[in-house]
Amino acid sequence: MEVITTVADFRGATRSVERPMSLTPTMGALHEGHISLIQRAQEENQTSVVSIFVNPAQFGPSEDFGRYPREMEHDLNLLHGTGVDFIFAPSTVEMYPEGFKTHIEVEQISEKMEGSYRPNHFRGVATIVCKLLSIIRPDRLYLGQKDAQQNLVIKRLNNDLNLGVEIVVCPTVREPDGLALSSRNQYLNPEERKAATVLHRALLLAEESGRTNPSDIKRDMIALIESEPLARIDYVSIVDADSLDKLGEFDGHALVALAVYIGDTRLIDNVLI
Ligand code: PAJ
Repeated sequence: MEVITTVADFRGATRSVERPMSLTPTMGALHEGHISLIQRAQEENQTSVVSIFVNPAQFGPSEDFGRYPREMEHDLNLLHGTGVDFIFAPSTVEMYPEGFKTHIEVEQISEKMEGSYRPNHFRGVATIVCKLLSIIRPDRLYLGQKDAQQNLVIKRLNNDLNLGVEIVVCPTVREPDGLALSSRNQYLNPEERKAATVLHRALLLAEESGRTNPSDIKRDMIALIESEPLARIDYVSIVDADSLDKLGEFDGHALVALAVYIGDTRLIDNVLI
């Protein structure tokens, strides 16, 4: 396992690697959700790369960039067990040197759901993913279902700019009580950690409700979440899984997605129905 921090060193070290080569992009503070992607990438490719970079461009001015967990030593220890070949962990100036002025805007899909609460978030995501793809030049990109809208943004970017990467989306890894693993779960105190199961409980309600009208399901989900005093809803959406357009009736391929604050911590989750 080789840890590389500059673009020039990465290019030098990977010029003649065996392909296919995978990239699993992360912001570090790795958990079993990340590891499941990394292991799958490792199994399916000759060479595997993990990037670790807390990308300032995807955080809003009042968001948690400053306190986002940075745990390089812990991350490298976890990664040692996976057999990954290269870790690309650049500094902020390496990725955004003085004078940096180019951004990628993926229209429409970026503006809905997360985009309406986190303006510029997906601009930051699309820009950094585009940069990582140009630096690393992987054949395959491994992403988690946990960030369903991010995956659609990256797929659009990949198609529109002819980047030619094969995108592999892996299932969401959950705690035994259903909470999706997330680096942000570390922010929760014990009381909030208990309350946080309400996201998954609301998604289960949607999955198991025999109802076919999205508005009815949404109403039930909102009532359940509002019964949890520590929870505050940003959005609950039942949408077409490809376009994120609102659905009139279930037609068998819906994305149910939500963003909920538990105390000061904003969590997202989703299921495909
Ligand atoms: P990060 O939140 O670190 O997530 C990295 C990848 O791990 C994403 O594809 C995400 O969907 C996946 N992931 C996170 N939690 C998961 C879980 N519980 N189960 C399965 N997969 C999970 O997403 C980002 O970083 C950034 O936006 C990034 C794409 C790296 C660009 O900066």
